[in-house]
Amino acid sequence: MKILILYASRKGWTQKSAETMSDYLNTLERVCALSCNLRMATSSSIKIEEFDILILGCSIMAGFWKPGTKKFLKRNKHKINKLALYVSAGATLEKANRGKCSLEEAVNLAISKYIDPVKKKYKINTILDGAFGGQYDSNGRIIFNSWKKEDVITWTQNLVSNSG
Ligand SMILES: Cc1cc2nc3c(=O)[nH]c(=O)nc-3n(C[C@H](O)[C@H](O)[C@H](O)COP(=O)(O)O)c2cc1C
Repeated sequence: MKILILYASRKGWTQKSAETMSDYLNTLERVCALSCNLRMATSSSIKIEEFDILILGCSIMAGFWKPGTKKFLKRNKHKINKLALYVSAGATLEKANRGKCSLEEAVNLAISKYIDPVKKKYKINTILDGAFGGQYDSNGRIIFNSWKKEDVITWTQNLVSNSG
């Protein structure tokens, strides 16, 4: 099974999730995973249609996807065999860290705010959606970091077992 992971990151945590997925997937038999910056992938010879699964990850800031990511989905949706989407929604996931809700509730909130409207708008189906944490810095000071490696690994395991 060939899996391509494309990420659109601003501060590096969407990239870290992609690399964590790729490292994990490449330990599995019969799986070959490649992670790549979305911008670099669009200017390279990578052929999306040659991959069984495309995982696309996007950084969320002020409620917005990183520019260019939705356009990429719109232009390439017909080439994608199976799609899984994830967002890095650091502030939303931090709610669970602070005990304001469960992890599941925070993930569902992030998916409903940042992924569902995009799927609806572009008429896209996915095999799995996900939301992970990230880091919030202000003037070089870390305000919080809600990224957790185990959340990324668990999601990736679910993806593999759901993908047939
Ligand atoms: C200016 C700013 C705005 C942010 N806005 C949101 C937001 O609207 N919702 C959210 O869940 N997280 C928000 N975050 C947290 C980001 O999701 C977090 O920084 C994440 O790491 C971004 O992904 P990236 O590291 O790949 O760029 C914000 C962070 C910053 C610095």
